[in-house]
Amino acid sequence: MTVKDKTVLITGATSGIGKATAISLASQGATIVLACRDLGKGKQAVADIADASGSSTLKAMQCDLSSFSSIRAFCDEYRSKFTTLHVLINNAGTWDFKRRESKDGIENIFAVNFLAPFLLTNLLLDLLKKSSPSRIVNVSSGLHGGTINFEDPEGKKKFSGFVAYRQSKLALLLFTRLLAKKLEGSGVTVNAVHPGFVSTNLGRDAGFFARYFFTLLGKSPEKGAQTSIYVATSPDLEGTTGQYFANCAPAKASKQSCDLATAEKLWQAAAAYVHL
Ligand SMILES: NC(=O)c1ccc[n+]([C@@H]2O[C@H](COP(=O)([O-])OP(=O)(O)OC[C@H]3O[C@@H](n4cnc5c(N)ncnc54)[C@H](OP(=O)(O)O)[C@@H]3O)[C@@H](O)[C@H]2O)c1
Repeated sequence: MTVKDKTVLITGATSGIGKATAISLASQGATIVLACRDLGKGKQAVADIADASGSSTLKAMQCDLSSFSSIRAFCDEYRSKFTTLHVLINNAGTWDFKRRESKDGIENIFAVNFLAPFLLTNLLLDLLKKSSPSRIVNVSSGLHGGTINFEDPEGKKKFSGFVAYRQSKLALLLFTRLLAKKLEGSGVTVNAVHPGFVSTNLGRDAGFFARYFFTLLGKSPEKGAQTSIYVATSPDLEGTTGQYFANCAPAKASKQSCDLATAEKLWQAAAAYVHL
C-alpha cells in the first residue's frame, strides 16, 4: 500500500532500524509520528529525518514504553492530535545484561519488548480499524525462541538477558499470530519481522560479546530497515496477516511461535499485567 498522505506511528525511531525506517517512509510522503521516551532526542531525530527525507510532516511525542501510564497518556495525546492511524510499527526494543525493572516494577525486557507493544496496539486498535486498510508491523527477531516461562516470565528466580530477550521476541510473535486471528475481516493486518543482524545501539548494555557482535558485524540500519519497510508498504502483501518475514520474504519461525493455545494463555497473562 502507498503510504503517501497516510499516518504512520513508529516506536524507537530515535536511532538504528527505527530511524532508518522513518526516513524511508517519510521520503514516500507519509506523516510520521515518533513515540520517544526522551522528547529532546525525539526532536533531534525529527530534525535528522526531515534533513534526510525532505519531509515536513513529522512529529515527536513523548512515550516511555517502560511505563503503562506513559503509554496510556501517549495514546490520549495521539487521539487529541490525529484522527487516523494507517501503519503502526512496534519497533522499539531493548536488550540488557543485567536484570532491571520498568517504571511499573516489571522486568524491563519483558515490559518494553512485549507488554508495551501489546498495550499500545490494543489501545489504538479502534483507530487502526477506522483507518483500514491498515497495517501493524511488529519487529521481532531471529533470536526469538525457547518457551514462555509462565511460572516466572520476569526471571525473578533466575535471570539471563539472552533468555529474557528470546522470550520477549517469541511473545511478540505469538501476539502477532493471535492478533491476526482476532482481526480477521477487519481490514487490519499484523505481521512480524526479523531485520537481520544490524549495527545499532541495541547490544550496548548486553555485555561485551553482544556489543562487539552488533557494532562490528552487523549490516547498516538502512539495510536492516528493508523488511519493516517492505511489510509496511508492499502492495503484494494486501491481506497478508499473521506471518513472519526476514530479508523481505516469508521466513520460518520457531514451532513454539505457531502455538495458538500458548498465544491465548499469554494474551490473558499480558492483559492482566497491563490492566486491559
Ligand atoms: N540490531 C539488531 O541486530 C536486531 C536484530 C533483531 C531484532 N532487532 C530489533 O530491532 C528493533 C530496533 O532495535 P535497533 O537494533 O535499531 O536498536 P537501537 O538503535 O538501540 O534502537 C532501539 C530504540 O528503542 C527505543 N527504546 C528503548 N527503550 C525504550 C523505552 N523504554 N521507551 C521508548 N523507547 C525505547 C530507543 O530509544 P532511546 O533512543 O531513548 O534509547 C531506540 O529508539 C528492536 O526491537 C530490536 O530488538 C534488532
